Amino acid sequence: MTEQATRPVPVRSIGTDLRRVDGVEKVTGRARYAAEQRADDDAGEALHMWLVQSTIAKGRVRRITAERARSHPGVVDVIDHTNAPRLEDTDNAELAILQDAAVGFRGQIIALVLAETPEAAREGATLVDVEYDVTPHEAELREDNATYRPDSVNPDMETDTDDGDVDAALAEAEVIVDQTYRTPYEYNNPLEPHATLAWWGEEEGRPVLSMFDSTQGVHGVVQALAPMLGLEPDQVRVQAPYVGGGFGSKGEAHAHVMAAALAARTTSGRPVKLAVTRQQMFALTGYRTATISHFRLGAKADGTLTAIEHAVQEQTSAIREFAEQTASPTRMMYAAPNRRTSHRLARLDVAVPSWMRAPGEMPGMFAHEVAMDELAVACGLDPIVLRERNEPEVDPETGRPFNRRRLLDCLHHGAERFGWESRAAEAGVTAEGEWRVGTGVAAATYPAMKMPGNAARVRALDGGRYAVAIGCVDIGTGARTALTQIAADALGVETGAVDLAIADTRLPPASVAGGSSGTSSWGTTIVAAAQRFRADHGDSPRPGLETTASPADDPTSEQYAFHSFGAVFAEARVHRWTGEVRVPRLLGVYSVGRVINPVTARSQFLGGLVMGLSAALFETSYRDPRFGHVVTQDLATYHVASHADVLDVEAEWLEESDEVFTPMGSRGVGEIGIVGTAAAVANATHHATGIRHRSIPLTPDRFLESVRA
Ligand code: MOS
Repeated sequence: MTEQATRPVPVRSIGTDLRRVDGVEKVTGRARYAAEQRADDDAGEALHMWLVQSTIAKGRVRRITAERARSHPGVVDVIDHTNAPRLEDTDNAELAILQDAAVGFRGQIIALVLAETPEAAREGATLVDVEYDVTPHEAELREDNATYRPDSVNPDMETDTDDGDVDAALAEAEVIVDQTYRTPYEYNNPLEPHATLAWWGEEEGRPVLSMFDSTQGVHGVVQALAPMLGLEPDQVRVQAPYVGGGFGSKGEAHAHVMAAALAARTTSGRPVKLAVTRQQMFALTGYRTATISHFRLGAKADGTLTAIEHAVQEQTSAIREFAEQTASPTRMMYAAPNRRTSHRLARLDVAVPSWMRAPGEMPGMFAHEVAMDELAVACGLDPIVLRERNEPEVDPETGRPFNRRRLLDCLHHGAERFGWESRAAEAGVTAEGEWRVGTGVAAATYPAMKMPGNAARVRALDGGRYAVAIGCVDIGTGARTALTQIAADALGVETGAVDLAIADTRLPPASVAGGSSGTSSWGTTIVAAAQRFRADHGDSPRPGLETTASPADDPTSEQYAFHSFGAVFAEARVHRWTGEVRVPRLLGVYSVGRVINPVTARSQFLGGLVMGLSAALFETSYRDPRFGHVVTQDLATYHVASHADVLDVEAEWLEESDEVFTPMGSRGVGEIGIVGTAAAVANATHHATGIRHRSIPLTPDRFLESVRA
């Protein structure tokens, strides 16, 4: 493997709307997702597995009795902490299941039932008798218990920052916004629930674990599981040819993946198939913590910020820490000489929180952008003018120049497209029939990231074709299509001349499909490999010639602050008598570098905007603190925006190319669409009604006081 400095790619296919290269596979049902896969023929028919989950939030399994389950005619085996294979490494308490009797949250995996059919496995699971020793638990996030200071926040950011003198600046401020904003527990609900097919075999006298897993990163699954199982990385093979969404919930291996691997260890080679149910996902596959954001903004009368303080309270799980980086966007978003951020956690006996689309930016920018709207009202300013007055010249967090900060261009372009100038200056004054009508705006931002450790292989085939291989996963975003375009342009051929292979750990290593970094990381790697191949072998290579390469370290990575920006505009209508909120128009305008494929990129933006709309209006879940579990654990009681909720949603982007960041000129599009959207909707409902809500979701009951208006 060699390293290759990348040069900008001449653009031919990039920027055109190539149809999805796997579209036919998907619409004809030939695309196989993890639960539909089959193991190698000699491994035999798969056993089906059902999970037994704890019904207490904290304590120990005193006794587990599997006699009744074992006597079920379809049940083959029951595995619990007394007979499960031992792990070499148990530091990751989320993954180290069935190693002892401890219970750390309600819903934790405490036994596995293997059977010849899914029905028998499920019935068998109900026949496992469990007795517990119960210990008191804490499952409620409150301001008085979120006091623990983590060493860092996701992924490895500073927990607290403190620059200048916030208190002195606030004491002198002419205008102050001092409010608390809240976001609820939110759950990833990708279309395809998590599933794993696992089987053990032998290669060259060593055990080998093979898996099909619904994951955002096959190599990440190996890195998590192999050391725990006492295996070298090359003894685990993971494939994920098709994945039906993830939003972060498939970004890391969760306990069910280990459950499948452990169970399959006991079956003498028979595969084990586990399809996690929608309800089980609420305890097992991560979620976004609820957040409490205490904001203090100090400003001069003209809206110039002098102080920004964002103190976050949220929760993690006692068994494994995940600290959402909720204040991270506050550190770089607006200019102010005095600034302070902090994160404090409640460590609760609950399921392990994790990544959900734009962790940090999503809840943090809800708070920040509603606070900015309040400051605009307090200063008597248009909210776009307020943002013009607080544009930083350099990144306030690092002092580095932004490589390209076009927030104001997004705001101005969006204002023109949305018809912002006709907006009423006053809140709560516009009505159409029985509907209060208003508009709102919010800014969006998301860091541009490239992950290390990627490599790609280019091989010449007959007839001027090329095989390009990289082990990344397309979770439905269109990565397979965008990477085909990037490879074609980098090799100087038509897209039809590229055979792209992905999603297998036997291919060169690739980073996770997360952090909106996939296309940037993998595309840069493919370009490096293609350029190295052409330098070594020319453009008429003999079939069979092959090059594997990684991009050289990027010298600009320490010179600039790399971020994308956007502006979200919303119209909201709030019904005078029922409080129902409708959002007839939603527009996002983005600066994300060059767009590789307008069709798939638009889908990412629209999906993000819809997910933000869904957060604004609907998404919340109720944890019962007495029992420690989420009560609303299905799509009937955890409502996700449906077609009837989504009206006119549009996404546009600025024409640009960011060749400082990637040789394709692109920066990443996966997450920024959700950022700021809930704030834009909340701000629009304030403009419609004059009622300021500082938490989401904006359910109808919360607007009933408008009846009096
Ligand atoms: Mo996304 S939450 O980075 O998978």
